[in-house]
Parts: sequence; C-alpha cells; structure tokens
Amino acid sequence: MFAVYASAPDAEKPLSALAQGERPDPEIPDGWAEVEVRAASLNMHDVFTLRGVGIKADRFPMILGCDGAGLLDDGTEVVIHGVVPSPGWAGDETLDPRRTLLSEKHPGTMAQRVAIPARNAVPKPEGISFAEGACMGTAWLTAYRMLFVKSGLRPGQTTLVQGASGGVATALVALGSAAGMRVWVTGSSEEKRALALELGADQAFEPGARLPERVDAVFETVGGATWSHSLKSLKPGGTVVIAGATSGDATAAELQRIFFLQLRVAGSTMGTRDELEDLLAFCALEDIRPLIGAELALESAREGFEAMLEGRTAGKIVFTR
Ligand SMILES: NC(=O)c1ccc[n+]([C@@H]2O[C@H](COP(=O)([O-])OP(=O)(O)OC[C@H]3O[C@@H](n4cnc5c(N)ncnc54)[C@H](OP(=O)(O)O)[C@@H]3O)[C@@H](O)[C@H]2O)c1
Repeated sequence: MFAVYASAPDAEKPLSALAQGERPDPEIPDGWAEVEVRAASLNMHDVFTLRGVGIKADRFPMILGCDGAGLLDDGTEVVIHGVVPSPGWAGDETLDPRRTLLSEKHPGTMAQRVAIPARNAVPKPEGISFAEGACMGTAWLTAYRMLFVKSGLRPGQTTLVQGASGGVATALVALGSAAGMRVWVTGSSEEKRALALELGADQAFEPGARLPERVDAVFETVGGATWSHSLKSLKPGGTVVIAGATSGDATAAELQRIFFLQLRVAGSTMGTRDELEDLLAFCALEDIRPLIGAELALESAREGFEAMLEGRTAGKIVFTR
C-alpha cells in the first residue's frame, strides 16, 4: 500500500528522512481493527520522528502519522485515537508508562490503511468531515485535555496561549473561547495574530509583550523561548499547563518565582479515548470546527512538512486520499 514514512532518522535534516512509496499492508492482531484512512493530519511529532526523537532506532522505516479518520470494514466512519496502551492496562491510557503513540512502535496513519486497537476507533459525528476528524486525535485532543482536564480554569477567567497559528494553539483558542474563557494569545507575526482574533481570541500580543494584567492560566507548547514570559504573566496561584517544548528546554526553571507566587505547573500529554469522544461531542454540539490551513493529497505530504518546518502554519495541515 502507499504510505508516507521516515526511512531512517536524521537529526539535522529531517526532510532527508522523509520518504513515500510502497509499504507492507498492516497486520491486524486479535482485538485490533483495520481503518481505511481518508485523512491524517501533520503534527510536530512527525518532524520529531524524522529526527529520531521519541522512537527507537530499530523501528525505522516507520510510517508517520499519529491521528486520522476513516472507515472500518463495515463502513462505520471513525476518528482514530492514537494512544496505544500496553496489554492489560486499565484506566487513563496517557498514564501508562509503556503506552506508545501510533508511529512510535506501530505503523502510523499516513497510509492507505492502518491497524489500531478496536477500542481506539471512535465514532465520527455526522457533520464533521474526515479532514476535520483527522485533526482531533492529537492537536485538538491535547488542547482539550490542557483546557478542561488540567488547567482548573472556569468560564470567565483569563488565559494566555503562547503561539497563534499552530495546530495546538489554534485548537486552544477555538475551544477556550467557545467555553467562555477570555483568551489572549502571543503570535509571531501580524498575520498570525489576526488569525487568532478571527478564531475567537480576545486580544493578541507580540511574543514577550507585557500584558494588560496577569492571567489565571498560561498554555505552553513552545518551551524555552517563552517559559520565562509564561511564568511572569501568571497571577499568584496561577497555573501553567505545558504540553510541548518546540524551541527546547528552558535555561532556568525559575524555581523562586514558582514557590513564592505559589504557581502550579501542570504537565499534559494527549488525552484519553473518552476525552476524545467528549471533544467530538463538544465540537458537534457547539458547531466548532478545526481551522485547516492546508489540505493536501497524501502524495504531496512533503509540501506540508516543509511548511511546518518553516513555521508557515495557519491551523492544521491535513493529508487526504
Ligand atoms: N504532549 C502532547 O501530547 C502533544 C501533542 C501535540 C503537540 N505537542 C507539542 O506541541 C508543540 C506544538 O505542536 P503543533 O503540532 O501545534 O506545532 P505547529 O502546528 O508547528 O505549531 C507551532 C507553534 O509554536 C509556536 N511558536 C512560538 N514561538 C516559537 C518558537 N520560538 N519556535 C517554534 N515555535 C514557536 C508557533 O507560534 P506562531 O503561530 O506565533 O508562529 C505555533 O503556534 C510541539 O512541541 C509538539 O510536540 C505535544
């Protein structure tokens, strides 16, 4: 079958590791199901895989893609939950120390077909397209858990999202504003800040800007480049929820600020299958849809990877078949 895959890790030039062509059909173990993939979205995770981060060297070549939407054998339309718990695990899958994400151990979704645990096939609500559904399993699920499971924020409170145009950032803005939070954003260009305002942000600022007042929570996926600003932007007792560090680790943890102002640092990773079901219901109920900045044929995936690496994002990049 046709697939987009990482041939071998390349830490310096990730695009050199990007390949496409024939890969073996998926094997379907007991309790797993095959999905005919109609759409898969691009995540920073795929770039990390090309660089060899978060994946063992002996797993290459590896089909990329940790989310998607498609059809089961019986025609049921599903959204894929990409977190694969270890056999026998019960409870919150994201807390299983031996969990993997599709494309880390098991082949990913950027292919004609993918094998997933049967439980990871979540019914796709009518009215949400395959391309929109494909955005839900990683970036949108991560944003949902950050906002509604980890932050402790209530409607009416003020939050800062670091980054404006990325997959997780656009999901945080859309979901947070739909839930009645006052969402402020930092964006790296005028155009990206305007995009955040269109999506529902209340105000958009340049990176590192002094805010009109301190906020109840900050949502971080940028890491070192914004960490200090995130901590400085919080009210005493505020919470920073962190789910990524694209720009690398922070050079100082700023421990004194954290304990003296009694700040809370909450790590967050992906979300559970049940949270994905709730996210889909919320989007269907409130008519919220992911912003898709580019929809490309899977055969043109390289264009999407180039755009992400160059920071040319306006919401999600989705590959369809
Ligand atoms: N823990 C998890 O489960 C999980 C799940 C999904 C993603 N993540 C992580 O979240 C991060 C974002 O992922 P994504 O898929 O949303 O990526 P993306 O679509 O490429 O977005 C990148 C975002 O980073 C922002 N950014 C701001 N300053 C930056 C800097 N100095 N360097 C690089 N980026 C900067 C960009 O802001 P502008 O728009 O203003 O340019 C943009 O919003 C990644 O680190 C990813 O691994 C984690």
